[in-house]
Amino acid sequence: MRITACLSLPAGSMAASGSRWLLYEGLMLPAVVHSAESISYAQHHFQVRPRDVFIVTYPKSGTTWMQELLTLIQCRGDPQLVRSVPPWERVPWVEHITAAGYLENRPCPRLISSHLPCNLFPTAIHGSSAKVIYTVRNPRDVCVSLYYYSKMASFLESPEDFGEFLKLFSAGKVLFGSWFQHVKGWLGLRDRLNFLLLTYEELHQDLRGSVQRICQFLGEELDARALEAVVDNASFQAMKQNNMCNYSLVPEDIMDQRISPFLRKGSPGDWKGHFTVAQSQAFDQLYREQMQDVHVQFPWDQA
Ligand code: A3P
Repeated sequence: MRITACLSLPAGSMAASGSRWLLYEGLMLPAVVHSAESISYAQHHFQVRPRDVFIVTYPKSGTTWMQELLTLIQCRGDPQLVRSVPPWERVPWVEHITAAGYLENRPCPRLISSHLPCNLFPTAIHGSSAKVIYTVRNPRDVCVSLYYYSKMASFLESPEDFGEFLKLFSAGKVLFGSWFQHVKGWLGLRDRLNFLLLTYEELHQDLRGSVQRICQFLGEELDARALEAVVDNASFQAMKQNNMCNYSLVPEDIMDQRISPFLRKGSPGDWKGHFTVAQSQAFDQLYREQMQDVHVQFPWDQA
């Protein structure tokens, strides 16, 4: 199998062109790892098991970080698995064409990733005791991260400039659609699922405390040494050096990390160096309009 077939490919794009993208119920997805059958399988046929743990994110919100953390927690801090198996095999995407092969015969508890908006998510999640961890990140930083990813990934169209990309992102004309729709949809299910809401920013602010919250949600108890090992092995520096999760396994003609590393800045607030004052004000206005009915205080709301 070509390595592209197992990638996360969580990036944005400029516009559907040729057969590069799959348009599924209005959502743009990279055709290299998705098909109408794979989405339909995820949505209607995927058998959710009671002990499944889903990592759900809008792209560029800390998916790889969560995949690393959850694997390390499951391994009680032992880094052997994260250093020998890439994340797309350890924590496969339920919507990818490879999902059935990776997941159907896997013992429980399975760790499963998804970028799907809630309306396309496996319907079997409803009424199940499976766990969903939804990680959300400041959309301004998501946009910047997607912008650089679009420049380094050859399967995406390189954006002309940041301003143009920001317009597309604001209009939801990027892969996996609108950040606002994704976040509002998932938050709407908060009280109906076995659900933990995390932010990228709180992981960054207090990784140890966040790991403890995740463990509590999962019903896992780690001793102090295991907790320390999870935190150490999931640091930005440790992950950058880990060839399994820094995407250096992917050939340069597919992801050119000389243009921009996959694990790029790894910190909140990078958007401040990219948005002009006018862009920032326009986005604030859009954010207020879109999020007026969302009664959750995010770390970036206070900034
Ligand atoms: P930046 O491009 O802002 O650096 P995803 O895995 O959903 O594609 O998200 C990728 C983003 O998460 C990148 O953001 C990446 O650097 C960041 N990231 C991944 N692991 C991280 C870690 N351990 N600490 C901080 N940021 C991390």
